[in-house]
Amino acid sequence: MSRLRGRIIGTGSYLPEKRLTNSDLARIVDTSDEWITTRTGITERRMAAEGEFTSDLAAEASRRAIQAAGIAADTLDLIIVGTTTPDLIFPSTASIVQYKLGISSTRIPAFDVQAVCAGFIHALAIADQFIRAGSCWRVLVIGAETTTRILDWTDRGTCILFGDGAGAVVLEAELNDGERGVLSTHLHADGAQIDLLHADGGISRGPPPGGGMGVLRMQGNEVFKQAVKAMESCVDETLLANNLSKEQVDWLIPHQANIRIIQSMAKRMGMSMERVAVTVDRHGNTSAASVPLALDEVVRAGRIQPGHRVMMVAFGGGFTWGSALVKW
Ligand code: ACO
Repeated sequence: MSRLRGRIIGTGSYLPEKRLTNSDLARIVDTSDEWITTRTGITERRMAAEGEFTSDLAAEASRRAIQAAGIAADTLDLIIVGTTTPDLIFPSTASIVQYKLGISSTRIPAFDVQAVCAGFIHALAIADQFIRAGSCWRVLVIGAETTTRILDWTDRGTCILFGDGAGAVVLEAELNDGERGVLSTHLHADGAQIDLLHADGGISRGPPPGGGMGVLRMQGNEVFKQAVKAMESCVDETLLANNLSKEQVDWLIPHQANIRIIQSMAKRMGMSMERVAVTVDRHGNTSAASVPLALDEVVRAGRIQPGHRVMMVAFGGGFTWGSALVKW
């Protein structure tokens, strides 16, 4: 059926300069390169510099996506940022990015979405709805985080996992019969599982007993099981909604939390790891930035070709999870 669909016309990403290797972490907590590599697949991650904020990473990734799209920034009509580590309580990081991109004079709407590691998928799904409704033509969708700023650097179970970064895509409306663009998006949440993954302080609840603004707390092994189950069922739901078999998916762009989760999903989908984007080894878990960072890497390597079906799927705190199927 002919209707408006959002097509990804440009991708971009940005990683801060500073690298933090497993050996660097072994000097901070009781861990080892061997443990981290074996259990997670991570060898290094990036860390934003002092004075470098989520909006800086987001703006740089956006400039690259806008350039790849070959458009002028002031032709955008909406900016959505998926982030859990905004620059400030308010204004939104998206508003700051709008200003940093120099497009504030066009007064386009800009807002953040908070869905932790599934933040980019949520932002993409919202952007797609605006496009399908005919309300927007070009939307800048960003996932950006400085997660290293909400870590407990004495907790070896979490501080070794996360990194900073940003990824962005430009989505453009196109009238077509489904031959390309976002085919469907699927979002879920389960607020009952807060104890397994949360930040232990906040604005309304206030600081944790020891003070500070609150840090990430996670029961990793339980989250691991739930993440695998939720992402696998979300992939099944997406295939069913599009009347496709798993063999008809060309690329899997999964959230980059742990190589073992990624391998388990690839195995279940019968996909060779050649068709799975993997950045967790060099980026760690960059939360909302992980999917667009991984997407940008395979796009820039020229590996995703027109006609390919690309399955993006993510899971994070909330719990929140979701998927987006895109035909390139
Ligand atoms: N170095 C050395 N030993 C460690 C480390 C470390 N960095 N961390 C934990 N251990 C120890 C534990 O203390 C435990 O020791 P014990 O057996 O003596 O008690 C042992 O290793 C095993 O711990 P587990 O937590 O069971 O290890 P597991 O194999 O599950 O790996 C990990 C932990 C890597 C966190 C894994 O569970 C994981 O990746 N979970 C999923 C994370 C995820 O998907 N998050 C989703 C999104 S995140 C977000 O939304 C913000």
